[in-house]
Amino acid sequence: MKVLFVCLGNICRSPAAEGVFREKVKIAGLESNFEIDSAGTAGYHIGESADRRMITHCNERGYDISPHRARKLSATDLGEYDIILAMDRSNYYNITSLDPGGEYREKIRMMTDFVTQWNVTEVSDPYYDGPEAFHHVIDLLEDGCDNLLNYLLNHYNSK
Ligand code: 4NP
Repeated sequence: MKVLFVCLGNICRSPAAEGVFREKVKIAGLESNFEIDSAGTAGYHIGESADRRMITHCNERGYDISPHRARKLSATDLGEYDIILAMDRSNYYNITSLDPGGEYREKIRMMTDFVTQWNVTEVSDPYYDGPEAFHHVIDLLEDGCDNLLNYLLNHYNSK
């Protein structure tokens, strides 16, 4: 299964999602079954490490996202990946705009579709906020990634 997490800059939310999901997959002993990556719909930060604050807060929670380098989402990613998770509505819109014919619509999902412990419809950008906002993003991603992994295992097993 090829899983892609997408946000705007690919320096905060989607690298964190990638790191959390990688850890969940590792704990489940399923690393050889997954290819996991992240990308941004904008190219402002191409080649950069994740945001320093997100690296720190992820470390505090046991996720090492220090190897991450930002990249921009391309139209070819939509064909490559089995599921593409948008962090917010605007990310979703930007992803679907690379797929005007709707060929890949079914595999483009909101990350919050898999969040059950909070009543949220987006993983909001913590960029201009403090540490609590970063930890809240990680809370949402931990819950969402647990449920995403279960969903993919069920989906995969029933194929
Ligand atoms: P991200 O956060 O989409 O979670 O990586 C952002 C990072 C940078 C910017 C916007 C959002 N920016 O405008 O530079």
